[in-house]
Amino acid sequence: MKANVFRSPGQFAIEEVERPRAGAGEAVIRVTLTTICGTDLHIVRGEYPVAPGRIIGHEPVGVIEELGPGVNGYAVGDRVLVGAITPCGQCHACLSGHTSQCGHGHGHEALGGWRLGNTMQGSQAQYLLVPSAQANLAKIPAELRDEQVVLLADIASTGISGAESGGVRVGDAVVVFAQGPIGLCATAGARLMGASLVIGVDGDDHRLRVARRMGADVVLDYRSQDVVAEVKRLTGGGADVAIEALGTQATFEAALRCLRPGGTLSSLGVYSGKLSLPYDAFAAGLGDHRIVTTLCPGGKERMRRLMSLVQSGRLDLAPLLTHSYALDDIQEAYALFGDRRDGVIKVAIRP
Ligand SMILES: NC(=O)c1ccc[n+]([C@@H]2O[C@H](COP(=O)([O-])OP(=O)(O)OC[C@H]3O[C@@H](n4cnc5c(N)ncnc54)[C@H](O)[C@@H]3O)[C@@H](O)[C@H]2O)c1
Ligand SMILES: [Zn+2]
Ligand SMILES: [Zn+2]
Repeated sequence: MKANVFRSPGQFAIEEVERPRAGAGEAVIRVTLTTICGTDLHIVRGEYPVAPGRIIGHEPVGVIEELGPGVNGYAVGDRVLVGAITPCGQCHACLSGHTSQCGHGHGHEALGGWRLGNTMQGSQAQYLLVPSAQANLAKIPAELRDEQVVLLADIASTGISGAESGGVRVGDAVVVFAQGPIGLCATAGARLMGASLVIGVDGDDHRLRVARRMGADVVLDYRSQDVVAEVKRLTGGGADVAIEALGTQATFEAALRCLRPGGTLSSLGVYSGKLSLPYDAFAAGLGDHRIVTTLCPGGKERMRRLMSLVQSGRLDLAPLLTHSYALDDIQEAYALFGDRRDGVIKVAIRP
């Protein structure tokens, strides 16, 4: 089969590799649609380490090709969505409700649920081996097209979880820092959770326009505005929930400074180096603030719930899937996505 294989930083290409076979508890799907994640850019640039020979990609939609022994209730030919995170559903972490930190039959493992395109072969390929298939194959309702569900695997699950983990309540004021793919889904999530004011922050005119389409009532451009002062003014003293969807000191700190006492900072960004917490930004530790982090929730029940939002018309991710490429042209897709050219938000990849 053809697959996008990582060799070393800057070196990745379509190669001919062996097709996977399903063992006990596993399934093989023929991938019909996938996409490229910002994390894949970190991988090909050598900023996140994966083994040479790794097939990249963790956002698969496909058709079941082969079912291993012990996978019940599915048939070859079923259309399925598989989350970026594939928990086993049986380990201590999963059974404690921390499925993204899955320990695969044993304890807890930080980020352990993220296997596809990380510690196992990924989805930018013609076929994909799905681990713990019974917990991870989510059947796609017949009326939904692949394009309507592919972004649920990762960015929508992650973005929406930013609002859920932040405990957004009906009538809340929510500010979302950065309107990249994840932040745009967090904006949609805040709206879904019942916020009455959603403020989207970015520095890209096109993305600020898309933020309005995804549910932002107000958009702020950090290049030309004092975002913290403006959020305090708009909310009459501070946001109930601030969602951080970039992973920098500047946005983390600004998110904290936007909160009212008792507010929650819900962090989705991936940080590097040191993150510091200025005492005045959180009332010297006495402001009843909460800081929570979340890794993308996966598993078939999460995917079913997200698909039901699309099915009922409450969530429409179509504005985010801006470009489409054949698997053979994936280098071109990485270049466009990486340079953020031509108003790109997410690219569809067709194996
Ligand atoms: N928690 C998870 O499970 C999870 C999953 C996937 C990705 N992530 C992380 O989420 C973050 C966002 O990913 P993405 O793909 O949406 O990012 P992206 O790089 O595509 O978008 C980032 C956006 O931030 C904007 N920006 C830059 N500086 C800003 C500032 N000072 N204030 C406001 N906006 C600013 C840019 O204009 C851009 O639109 C990354 O750190 C990524 O690694 C987390
Ligand atoms: Zn991802
Ligand atoms: Zn597990």
